[in-house]
Amino acid sequence: MKKEQVVHCQFSVWYPIFKKHTIKSVILPLPHNVIDYLLDDGTLVVSGSDHNSQQTHTNNSDSDAEEDIQWSDDETTTTVTAPEFPEFTSKVQEAINTLGGRVFPKLNWSAPQDANWIALNSSLQCHSLSDIFLLFKSSDFITHDLTQPFDVCSDRDSADPVINYELVLRKWSELIPGGEFRCFVKENKLIAISQRDYTQYYQHVLKQEEQLCHAIQDFFSEHIQYNFLDEDFVFDVYRDSQGRVWLIDVNPFGEVTDSLLFSWEELRCGGGISLQQEGPAFRCTTSEVTVQPSPCLSFRIPRDFVDLSTGEDAYKLIDFLKLKKNQQQQEEEEEAVAPQ
Ligand SMILES: Nc1ncnc2c1ncn2[C@@H]1O[C@H](COP(=O)(O)OP(=O)(O)O)[C@@H](O)[C@H]1O
Ligand SMILES: [Mg+2]
Repeated sequence: MKKEQVVHCQFSVWYPIFKKHTIKSVILPLPHNVIDYLLDDGTLVVSGSDHNSQQTHTNNSDSDAEEDIQWSDDETTTTVTAPEFPEFTSKVQEAINTLGGRVFPKLNWSAPQDANWIALNSSLQCHSLSDIFLLFKSSDFITHDLTQPFDVCSDRDSADPVINYELVLRKWSELIPGGEFRCFVKENKLIAISQRDYTQYYQHVLKQEEQLCHAIQDFFSEHIQYNFLDEDFVFDVYRDSQGRVWLIDVNPFGEVTDSLLFSWEELRCGGGISLQQEGPAFRCTTSEVTVQPSPCLSFRIPRDFVDLSTGEDAYKLIDFLKLKKNQQQQEEEEEAVAPQ
């Protein structure tokens, strides 16, 4: 996979091409100071004006736990007044309003799916910039977009293309996981389709395999094929209850993209999947027996712990978690240098 392929899969590159066939979205350039804020581990308290909150910790009797955490003792974490981005905040709010008040946020490539547990509703649905910051600052996927988007590219020695970071706001849509599929395109041919949420068995997917395959194949040949900038890529689709197919995302053809029920080896060589056949190879989970825990569960902490926080205390919880992480890292570093 080349750096150029990664560049082509940025949202702002493919969205104008396929606008008619995907969920309505707004793209906003991400200001440098916002990027710095997202990458800064020390400054964690968010004070968006939409939150209307003072960042002084409340002094009621429940706040004892704070003392136990010893905020001031850790040199790496300072509870400073969070930066404010009034201009950006109002642009974001305006965009959210035009999209119906509820959005799904992304950066150039990724959504903060590994952080959904931190949100009070355990979902990526956002109503304000502070909701978005909470998710982004807790997500390793977002950090990856910001710091090493080209880390697995084969042309590692060439200069990294310049990336203009963007906040993508997509109109919130209730997608039923059983309707999502990932499609692999090699040399402009649709070679394979996998159920996206392969951890679950969906009876209707198995039953309608042929119909589904046809619908996706038609969608590909009518709207996608030859319209993208590369001949190898992966696109995600959603088939709604009326049978209409929608484009959800475009991803690079390579290991950064989860190959789901296929392996990258078979997708590359075509060895395992019978590519001599007419249509694409189709795979879905075929029985309850093979059902696995959802991959996102591994990013979660116990629900009880999340419940500790209510309202804007969620921010306090992130502070706490980051502090613990820093402490742990420090301890590990100390252990590493300690004589055996
Ligand atoms: N507009 C939306 N509203 C609600 N959920 C969405 C929306 N777009 C995507 N999703 C859900 O989030 C998942 C990840 O979205 P996607 O754009 O593919 O992000 P990523 O590339 O980080 O995986 C999708 O599989 C879908 O279930
Ligand atoms: Mg994607």
